[in-house]
This record gives sequence, structure tokens and C-alpha cells, in this order.
Amino acid sequence: MRNPIWSLLATSLSVRGSLASIVSQAPFTDDFSASLDGSSVRVLTHEAHPEHSLTIKAHSASEPYITSGGPSLADICPGATSGYTGYLNSGSKHFYFAYFESRSDPAADPLVLWLNGGPGCSSMTGLFMELGPCTVNDGGESARENPHSWINAASVFFLDQPIGVGFSYSSDNSTRGGQGGTFAASEDVYAFMRLWYKAFPESKSLPFSIAGESYGGHYIPVFAEHIHQMNKVSALEDQIPLESVLIGNGIFSETKQASSYYDIPCTNVTGIGPLLNSTTCSKMSAAVGRCEHLMEACHAYTDPLICNAAFDFCSDELEEPYFESGLNYYDISRPCDGYLCYPIMNSITKFLRTDKVREAFGVDKAAPKFEGCSNKVGREFDKVNDMLIDTRPYVATLLHSGIRVLIYVGTYDWICNFVGNERVFGALEWKGLPDFRYQQENNKQVWSGGLWWESGLLRYARVNGAGHMVPWDKPVEALHLFKAWLDKKPLE
Ligand SMILES: *[C@@H]1O[C@H](CO)[C@@H](O)[C@H](O)[C@H]1NC(C)=O
Ligand SMILES: *[C@@H]1O[C@H](CO)[C@@H](O)[C@H](O)[C@H]1NC(C)=O
Ligand SMILES: *[C@@H]1O[C@H](CO)[C@@H](O)[C@H](O)[C@H]1NC(C)=O
Repeated sequence: MRNPIWSLLATSLSVRGSLASIVSQAPFTDDFSASLDGSSVRVLTHEAHPEHSLTIKAHSASEPYITSGGPSLADICPGATSGYTGYLNSGSKHFYFAYFESRSDPAADPLVLWLNGGPGCSSMTGLFMELGPCTVNDGGESARENPHSWINAASVFFLDQPIGVGFSYSSDNSTRGGQGGTFAASEDVYAFMRLWYKAFPESKSLPFSIAGESYGGHYIPVFAEHIHQMNKVSALEDQIPLESVLIGNGIFSETKQASSYYDIPCTNVTGIGPLLNSTTCSKMSAAVGRCEHLMEACHAYTDPLICNAAFDFCSDELEEPYFESGLNYYDISRPCDGYLCYPIMNSITKFLRTDKVREAFGVDKAAPKFEGCSNKVGREFDKVNDMLIDTRPYVATLLHSGIRVLIYVGTYDWICNFVGNERVFGALEWKGLPDFRYQQENNKQVWSGGLWWESGLLRYARVNGAGHMVPWDKPVEALHLFKAWLDKKPLE
């Protein structure tokens, strides 16, 4: 069985900038302005991306805008700051985003774009469960303020991509979401950023970071590298000020990470193991070497026949026993309970299917009923064997280009666990490898959330007792980690 594993991966992009002033700034000098339901909508285009346009609607925390008499965004989402919601339009494709300015100093704080993973999962999980201004309450009727939101330290936007994910949709049936996988997705994310900076040139002076989790280990290195390559061939005024990337519990290399499906449930490396019995574990143990060998063959030849055999073998022998245990695949300390193993996922789905929430968040009427993850989109990524892309070389390119990389990993995750991540970064081919490996093996430092080490521009941090969604399990530590990173300070 192939599982939709990477299904909850969130990723985020970050940029330093203040848009506070922009919200109140009027009139806009846009390509096109219109009044929709009495609210001002900006429509922007860019000559380098003639097929794209950006539709932006402002929301204000202090003067709630009442859409057709309904509640404002800040009423629906307590703790929300001023910002925008809107769509990046590309032909029949419409990508949804929600932006919140920093709670601290929006004129100087970094700008961060958060993208959940999957592939096929909505960044609304990041917004309403992990690091957004509000968290959905049990039952999905309302939300409460999130005091540990990452908007405490940065302006953050949440983008639903690719098409077919969350509130992003295609207006004709010929476009299937996820076609072309991560590489195709990087084109639209790049176009989005170009249009963003056209709309908000003030934010160019602020450092921009891309952050996310899970399949973000695929998305972020590829998207960031694409931005970096495009910067090289773009005029100065078109540069995107990409400064860093942050990737939590990522999947970078199936070859390097697959064997860790054994270590987490069958050893005590987590401090709460082993979780499976010795009969099951000795069977799994016997499959580890063969799985690694098949994965390497797949990577060397990228022949679908070899790769499918490798994936099926590893999945049957190393993943299936864990799934059968009924444990949460994102958190070994909990049972799998609810949609994607969390009751709050059901609450979020219910909340985001409510008309008043959709309206307050500027969701197009044409956007489909909300789903946390789209299996259809996941299948398109499968068709192009996207999972086989080993993103380590992209991470190495970023490091060699002066872009900082933070890898953080909750130690209770199974699906994209710390053992696999440490195998990946202990074998990342870049100029800092020997020193990074030395730090990893001999010089781990202690911080309030666990252990961490770094070399040059690459920092690695464990978050003890957190599952896959680190800000959900350890909100205080996650915000601390995020702030220290943006401030370029050591972890304490
Ligand atoms: C798209 O497909 C759906 C169902 O498959 C159908 O109801 C709808 O009319 C189609 N839309 C267009 C624009 O063809
Ligand atoms: C697992 O490790 C924890 C922490 O080191 C320890 O307290 C526990 O006794 C260990 N469990 C087993 C079964 O060895
Ligand atoms: C070990 O776990 C498997 C899977 O849950 C179960 O079928 C088997 O009976 C267990 N064996 C022992 C010795 O407990």
C-alpha cells in the first residue's frame, strides 16, 4: 500500500517587510481596481508574467470591514492582524493566499511565506492549527487567538498550492492540480512572489524566508533554488530578497530516510520506544538493508519498474507494520484519531466549510468545498515520481549561494522523523559537510526545546516531544526557535 504520508507537510516562505502602512495607503495605483461587495479589490499584473494576475482584498484588524453585513476576518479569527486575502490568477488557475502583518513591527519584521506539504495539503492547516493568528476550537464552530503565532515575529502569508489544494482551484476541468509536480509548482510560486513585490514594493527591503514542513522538504529547496536562479538573470528591481529557508520534519531523500521507519518504532531512540513487538521488529530489521539497496537502485536508474518495486517493498515491509499499529503517524505518543490522525483536523474542515468563514477570508464562491488534503493532487505528483526527487543538491546550492537553512525536527514524528533527517544532513554534499558532521557527532548543544548544532549557514534543531506539526505540539519552543533564527542568534 502506498500511503498519503507526506500528506501533512507544511512549508512557508518568509520575507521581511512592513505592509502595515500599505493597508491604510490609498488610493492604490493599480492596473485595475474594483469594488466587490463594497470592498476594495486590487488586481495587479506583471509584464514578465503576462499570464498571471494578483487579486488582493485588504482586511483590517482595527476597522473590521463588514462584508455584506457578515462578520469581519478578525471577528472570525481572533488575534488576526491587518493584512490581505486574495488570489494569484494564471489562466484558469486561481491560487488562494491569506496574509497577516507582524504583531511586533511590521515595518521592519521579516516576511515569511508558509506552505503546507502533502503533496496536496492545504496551508490552512498551518494557519488554523499550527502558527497562524488563531486556532480552531473543538467542534469547528469558532476559533481562539493563538498567543504563540509566528506573526508575533514576522509578517506571514499562507499560500494554497498547487491548484486543487485548499481554496485554490481551476475554473475549467482541463487543468488538473499537481500536474508536473514540484518543478511545475515552482513556476507559479515564483510568479506569485514577483507579483507580490509589484503590489508591495515596500516589502523589498525586508528579508524574505520560505518556511514549511513535511513535503516542504521537496517544495522549499526547489522553489528557493528557482527563485535564486531567476534572481541571477533578473534586473535589480526584480530581485526577490530571499534570505533563508526553514524546513520542519521534511522529506528530502526517500533513499536516505526510508530505513528510519524501522528505527523510530523498533528502538528506544525517541525515549518512549520500542513501540512494536520484537517479532514484528525483527522482520522489519531484515528488510532495512534490502529497502536501502532498492532505493539506491531506483535513484541511480529512475526506471519506474525498479522504483515501483523499491517503493512497494519498503512500504510493505517498513511502513505497513506501523500503520497497522493504529498509532498516529505524525506523533508516536498518540493514537491515530480523526482526519489525518488529529481530531482538530475534523474541526478545521468543518470551520472552513462554513459560508461566513469563507466570506470573511475572501474565498471565491467558485472555490470548492474545503478539504485538508487532496488525494487527486497527490496522485498527480505520484505520476511524475515526484517523491523520487532527492532535494539534497538543491539545499546544497542554497547554502553555497549564501542562503541560510534551518532544519528543525520534532522527535515524536514517525513519517518524516529526526533519525532520517539526521541521515540526510549528515550526508549532505556541500563545503560544510565535514564540520557539520563533526558538530552532529561530537558537539551537540542544548536549548530549551532539545538539542541543536550548526555549521556555517546550516542549522539543525531537534524539538523534543514534538510530533510532525511542531508549532502545534510545542508552541512556545517553536516560536522561540523561529525568532532566534530570524534574529540570527544562537539557540538557547
Ligand atoms: C467540471 O466538472 C464537473 C463535474 O465533473 C461539472 O459539474 C462541471 O460542470 C464541469 N465544469 C466545466 C466548466 O466544464
Ligand atoms: C527508553 O529511554 C528512556 C529515556 O532514556 C528510558 O527512561 C526508558 O527506560 C527506556 N526504555 C526502555 C524500554 O529501555
Ligand atoms: C506482535 O505484533 C503483531 C502485530 O500487531 C501481532 O500480530 C503479533 O501477535 C505480536 N506478537 C507477539 C509475540 O506479541
